[in-house]
Amino acid sequence: MIEIYNITNLKSLDELRIKVLGKKGVLTNEFAKLKDLNEDERKKVAKELNELRDEFSEKLNLKKEILEKKEQEQLLQKDKIDVTLFSKKVELGAIHPVNYTLDRIVEYFVNMNFSIHTGPLIEDDFHNFEALNLPNYHPARDMQDTFYFKDSNLLRTHTSPVQIRTMLKQKPPIRMISPGAVFRRDFDLTHTPMFHQVEALVVEEGDKVSFANLKYILENFLTYMFGDVKVRFRPSFFPFTEPSAEVDISCIFCNGDGCRVCSHTGWLEVLGCGLVDENVFKAVGYKNVSGYAFGLGVERFAMLIHKISDLRSLFESDLRLLEQFK
Ligand code: DAH
Repeated sequence: MIEIYNITNLKSLDELRIKVLGKKGVLTNEFAKLKDLNEDERKKVAKELNELRDEFSEKLNLKKEILEKKEQEQLLQKDKIDVTLFSKKVELGAIHPVNYTLDRIVEYFVNMNFSIHTGPLIEDDFHNFEALNLPNYHPARDMQDTFYFKDSNLLRTHTSPVQIRTMLKQKPPIRMISPGAVFRRDFDLTHTPMFHQVEALVVEEGDKVSFANLKYILENFLTYMFGDVKVRFRPSFFPFTEPSAEVDISCIFCNGDGCRVCSHTGWLEVLGCGLVDENVFKAVGYKNVSGYAFGLGVERFAMLIHKISDLRSLFESDLRLLEQFK
């Protein structure tokens, strides 16, 4: 019994338990000898042995509890972490304003049941120009300064060629947007050689799609992006749409009163749109369909949302700018 007190770990305690109560244990042995005794003696010794066993078991369990607690404490002590110690400072990044804006735009259209399509950055003349009603001799091609490769390929100047690729692949109805990078030979306050556009296209059989549908979605979308703004449509020209319009929002800097950003007009131009030109449908072999399309520049949206005045600063990876978007 005394031995129990000297034991300092669970393993030795269990060894002792086996030594006493195990199959060949001391007490077990004594119990086995009972059968050799006469009845009176057997009763007496059995009683004593039972008491001894109970007392031993009780002490054993008590010691076990104490040792378990002690081992637990030792373990905690060993794995202790000093949470007040200074650690290495972790710098958290921020979402780039262009990605933030793009995510918001995409989120809107995904919620409106548009699917997302992408296309190659290196395009051919057919998808980038020809099929979009910009034939070789067309003066509208001058509107876009293009990076050409030695063969007839080029860096796409807009995301509109994805319209063509999608229509060539599937039949109407189509309800798609195409976000992605585009390239033009341009570099100043509001132009960089690479920037991002989102193109949208909706096509249905028959004459189901009207300018009213286009107007509805754009007014809804622009309010989602810019809050409570007025939206106006100005007649314009794009080879791939007829009729075409440019869309303005009331200036978010001066509430339409007129300021430097809106050149004192009270309006900011934000995108181009229109009903898809018959010639575009012809180029992809569509008959008896109607549709609308629009295209917007993501950086332009980002600049307006974040009030950034120099577009080039978005691509300089200057932490002083990027840290402001945490
Ligand atoms: N592709 C035009 C551009 O790069 C943007 C655009 C304007 C797309 C009008 C359209 C549209 O789909 O209808 O400037």
